[in-house]
Amino acid sequence: MKDIIAKPLNSPLKGEIIIPPDKSVSHRGIIIGSLTCGKVKISNFSKGQDCISTLNIFKNLGLEVDFIDDKTLTINSKNGLKEYKGSLDCGNSGTSMRLLAGYLSGMDFNSRLIGDVSLSKRPMRRVIEPLCQMGAFIASNEGKAPLDIRGTKKLNGITYFSKIASAQVKSSILLAGFNAVGETKVYEPFLSRNHTENMFKYFDADIKTGNDAKGFYSSIRNTFLCPKDIFVVGDISSAAFFMAAASIVKDSDIIIKNVGLNETRTGIIDVLFKMNADIEILDKKTVNNEDMGDIRVKYSPNLKGCEISGNIIPRLIDEIPIICVLAGFANGQTVIKDAQDLKNKESDRINCTASGLYKMGFDIKATEDGFIINGKKEIEGGCELDPNHDHRLAMSYYVASLASKKDSLIKDFSWVNTSFPEFLKLFGELN
Ligand code: S3P
Repeated sequence: MKDIIAKPLNSPLKGEIIIPPDKSVSHRGIIIGSLTCGKVKISNFSKGQDCISTLNIFKNLGLEVDFIDDKTLTINSKNGLKEYKGSLDCGNSGTSMRLLAGYLSGMDFNSRLIGDVSLSKRPMRRVIEPLCQMGAFIASNEGKAPLDIRGTKKLNGITYFSKIASAQVKSSILLAGFNAVGETKVYEPFLSRNHTENMFKYFDADIKTGNDAKGFYSSIRNTFLCPKDIFVVGDISSAAFFMAAASIVKDSDIIIKNVGLNETRTGIIDVLFKMNADIEILDKKTVNNEDMGDIRVKYSPNLKGCEISGNIIPRLIDEIPIICVLAGFANGQTVIKDAQDLKNKESDRINCTASGLYKMGFDIKATEDGFIINGKKEIEGGCELDPNHDHRLAMSYYVASLASKKDSLIKDFSWVNTSFPEFLKLFGELN
């Protein structure tokens, strides 16, 4: 793992970048594409390690994969999938492990899912419990990886009320539900990202979504899926680092192209508007059921703090560390609440974000379910930062350093490769 020195920037960020492909949509392209009965071409597939983990798992399971160029591939499951005798390695990717737990529970073979040190500490009961209610057999290490899954074609549809708004939980159950007998319906208290539902709909699945007195629901029944080509929209979670950087680095003016603008992901844009950022959405369109557009962001000398809580949280769950950075440069106080699940991410993102940014000189306090941040005019920097196996912390520290006073050392910066190997190169293009 490589350490880097992150330097304050003394010139503005200017120009245009194309943001790399969305991680969540890339995973789903492989996973749901493999459930169709033919060849699916996926263009603009993520080069992040998490998506490569999903792809390698499917290659091990016998999926035919052909790369046309480094970001375009075709998959073909016409010969079906088969048991892999070794362990299927999800690496750092919670999405791979949780979605595949559901997917593999409904196959007629057994599988073992493993992960790296960080993933092996993350809670899996949130998917094991509903899947076992459907008739799955999953052995775990006290609710954590490795997961030993005895596949069965005899899963039963259930109606499940998830206590948390989690796209990984919802998608895991829907993927099991696709192979179950009858209907599978998942309720969640707030709407989490809906890429699974959008992609199933795109492939003409028998899937319904909506909301009623019990919450937001998605329900699925097995049906024939039509193979179609997919273009993966750009990752708004990656774009968030550039939106934040341009907002806090003096005189910046950038355009970020191809950003996925699915409403279940655009909480960061709502927050930027609320904070008084200078941001504009240009040229919106829809590709395979996902909205996409370009975003222009200019330096904002008058950012202001705000409260972030409730149903917006799932719409910006991955952006909270970088929102803390923005809040540190804003006037007044920002309070973030209802984000307790951040403790279960690649790191304990509440305590790790707060302690890293505090070290840099931010006035930030971790609470049980979020943060209290008082904006400051100047951030000192000049310290050593450990991202704790967490790509989003590494990138947040980098952006904070751009607008701080002194160089900081970020340890193990290669964690960014989990989602965004192009991160430093793209910053280079704007300077
Ligand atoms: C993801 C869902 C979210 C998010 C993660 C990706 C997905 O996790 O934090 O980075 O692709 O479904 P949760 O479902 O745990 O909130």
